[in-house]
Parts: sequence; structure tokens; C-alpha cells
Amino acid sequence: MIGGGPGGYATALYGAAAGLDVAVVELDKVGGTCLHRGCVPAKEFLETAAVRRTVSAAAAFGIGSPSDDRPAVHFEVSQQRKQQVVDQLFRGLSGLMKGRGITVFPGTGVLLPGRRVRVTADDGSTTELGGTNVVLAAGSLPRTIPGFDVDGTTVLTSDEVLDLEHVPPSVAVIGGGAIGCEFASMFSDLGASVTVLEALPTILAGCDEDAAAVVARSFRKRGIQVHTGVQVTGHAPVPGGGGTVVSFGEGQQVTVASVVVSVGRRPRSEGLVEPGTGVVVDERGFVVADEYMRTGEPGVWAVGDIVAGTPQLAHVGFAEAIVAVRSMLGEPVVPVDYGAVPWAIYCHPEVAFAGMTEAAARAAGIDVLVKKDPFGGNSRARIIGETDGLVKVIAERRPDGSAGRILGVHMAGPWVTEQLGAGYLAVNWEATPDEVARFIQPHPSLSETFGETVLALTGRGLHVG
Ligand code: NAI
Repeated sequence: MIGGGPGGYATALYGAAAGLDVAVVELDKVGGTCLHRGCVPAKEFLETAAVRRTVSAAAAFGIGSPSDDRPAVHFEVSQQRKQQVVDQLFRGLSGLMKGRGITVFPGTGVLLPGRRVRVTADDGSTTELGGTNVVLAAGSLPRTIPGFDVDGTTVLTSDEVLDLEHVPPSVAVIGGGAIGCEFASMFSDLGASVTVLEALPTILAGCDEDAAAVVARSFRKRGIQVHTGVQVTGHAPVPGGGGTVVSFGEGQQVTVASVVVSVGRRPRSEGLVEPGTGVVVDERGFVVADEYMRTGEPGVWAVGDIVAGTPQLAHVGFAEAIVAVRSMLGEPVVPVDYGAVPWAIYCHPEVAFAGMTEAAARAAGIDVLVKKDPFGGNSRARIIGETDGLVKVIAERRPDGSAGRILGVHMAGPWVTEQLGAGYLAVNWEATPDEVARFIQPHPSLSETFGETVLALTGRGLHVG
């Protein structure tokens, strides 16, 4: 394995469990971006933000007083807690790998012809390894944009945000995708004034438009300034320090303490493959692999963020790892269905989905039936005081007008990242509303909204028409 992030360590663990002799080359720490600079620390801070939101609203439950609505943030404590969570998971993962007999080689790996890997350690010493199979799992890095040189204080990417020592009083987030919306939400809930600058006409452009609209509405209500359809043209630091002036759109400007650049991630493939192998790296630097994760060189595989044309998600890396190992072993394997993987975005309100958006289904010429149920009518949502959001289910319309296969399930609202499971299963099981509607949801629970939406698609809803 070259790379010990989710793609690499999952390949190592699954391979070792299948009896393979496994070595992982890692230049930093096993766990990769996900554990050290991505999913885990980001969600830990989003939880910090959620705690502050909850405490701010506690007076409505008869706890504390209304004057406690802006509780102080001790960000150094939040940082320590985040680091404890990361360190515990890192120790757990390292122990698990050791227990499975996986050897970790510290250093930078380069693929050489003949399925050999050269490892260069920090001190410049090199070792060469050979394997029946080699897996490229070097991951990705934040993309930046011209004119925004990352300095760690004024201009940040996700890497630097997660190491901040305090919450900046004001932040401009460039890019309203998953990372941008998560950070915008987090900073706003921690008391910063936030501006989002997005080039496309909407934030969360890959999501169903009804789900994205829930987040856009909530951002507006919370005072987050969202400018869509704008190009960012540059920034000029305020003389004497104290932030920078970001220019965007038609001569518009915003002065902020920090700028977060979240405009996508690029593959970490520079120097990864020496000439002389059949591995194809595309013009954007991604490694080309087929549905079984085979590259153009026999015995060389690729998994995770480095693979061309696949979602950059840790859990997709895990799934690809299993596909790669089973393929190596010549076992039966079902390739990852990239159009139906689960997506989970942890801004407030959360967004989670699997399968086609309504727009994508219609664009594909599919006749669809769509039902939506807002969380406002859900008793548990009322109890917890989080009623923003909805569940939307898209099904194929059969010739007789009834709902056929479920094509997409889209959720925005409280804890939807934990509720997607049933929807994910429905999409990937190619189930119909008739089949899914028979299953009971507990009451009172947030998951009743999914049950209700599916029931409505059978033509007879209890609460939804
Ligand atoms: P993204 O591709 O999801 O979003 C980037 C956004 O920036 C797009 O909406 C794009 O239109 C916009 N943009 C690009 N250049 C711009 C410019 N010059 N000015 C203004 N806007 C511009 O990328 P993001 O959010 O950085 O995430 C990177 C990867 O990590 C994605 O594949 C994402 O899916 C994944 N990720 C997923 C998470 C989740 O699912 N919870 C969390 C974090 C990352």
C-alpha cells in the first residue's frame, strides 16, 4: 500500500484479515486526511458548535436564563478535546494494524516498474519493497486558487482551520460545497460572522435542490451572508494586520479576519509513479482505475481520493479497498455503485442522501413520482426543537401511475446523517415504496418522516398527501 489513509488502511486491514502479507508506506500518520485533517476533527468541531447551539437555546427548556444565550467559547479546550478524540482513534488504528501483522514503513513511497516501491524516509535513506500486488492510496490535498496563498492565519484551507487556536471574529468561506458549508455553519455557531462566496448559482450544488434550500434558508436566518454566482477576484491584507479585504462579483468587497479556501481537493499524485509502468494518470492528476480498482499495470491497484471520477469520501475508499482485495484474490465482487453511495454533510441542518436528485432523474428522461415530508410535523423534531428540514423520496413512475423503484432519498434536518441508513438500503436494494412502506418506524422518532414519505408514495399517506 502506498498511503495509510482510509483507502490504504482499509485495504491493509481487509487484506490482512484475508491472510495476505501486508506492508503500508505512510509519510505522516496512519489514518490519513480523514482522521488527522478531515472528517474526524471537522465533525468534532461541528459537535462543539452543536453543543454551543444547544446551550444557547437552553432557556426555552427552562434551563438557565435567557441571558445565557451567547455562552463563551474556550477554543483551546475544544482543540484539546478534538485532539484527544483523534489521538485515541489513532492509537486504536495503530494497535489494530499491529495486531493484524501489518508493517508500516515511514516515508514517501514511489511506484517503480515491476511492482516495486521505493520508500524514502525523512532522513533520506531509501528501502525497496516488492509485492505481488501494489495499491496506490496516496489520497488528496486541498486545492487553492491563484491570489490566495495559504499562510495559516489570514488564508486557510481545511488543514489550517483544524489547527486554529481561536475562532476568528469574521470569516469568508470561498466555495459553498461540503467543506465550505460545514465550516460556515461551524464558525457561525461558534460566534463568528460568516460570508460564503460560491461561483455556482447555489450552495451544495451536488445535492437535491430542496435539501440545499433548507441549508440556504437556515444560513440566512442565522445571519450567514451567502453570495452565489460570484467569482472571487483577490484579496488585499488590511495594512497593519487585522485581516484582509476580499473582492468578489461586480466590485463587491468584504473585510474579514480569515479566509477559508474550500474549492475542492486535488489528487496527491506528483512523483507517485515513475515512468515505465502502465499506470495512467489523467490530465488532472487522478489515477485511472476500472470498476475492480485495477490500474493500467497488472497487479497495481488504486483506491480512495486518488482515483479518477469517484466521490472523495472516506467510506467510498473503504468500499473500494474491499473491492480491490477481493479482486486480487479472484473472489466474486460487486463493484462500487458510485451513483448510489451515501453522502453525509454535517453542517447545521445536516444533509444526507443516496441516489439520484430529482433534477438528475428528470434530466435522464425518467418519469418520476416525488413526495416530500417536512420535519415540522414530526413529534420528535418538535420535542428536540429542530424542525427545519425535510425528507424527499424520488421513485420511478410506472406506466399505471404507481410508484416503482426508489431512485433517490434526500434528507435535510436533525440527525439525518444517522437516519440515512434506511433510505440508502431502499435505493441500493432497488426497493419500491410498496415494499418499504410495510416496515414500521418507532414513534416518536425522526425516522418516521422517512416512513411517512414512502407511505405517501404508495398513494395513501397518513399525514402527507
Ligand atoms: P466541492 O467540490 O464539494 O465544493 C467546492 C465548491 O467550490 C463548489 O461548489 C465550486 O463551485 C466552488 N468553487 C470552486 N472554485 C471557486 C472559486 N474560485 N470561487 C468560488 N467558488 C468556487 O469541494 P470541497 O467542499 O472543498 O470538498 C472537497 C471534497 O471533499 C469533495 O469531494 C467533498 O465531497 C469531500 N468532502 C465531503 C464531506 C462530506 O461529505 N461531509 C466533508 C468534507 C469533504
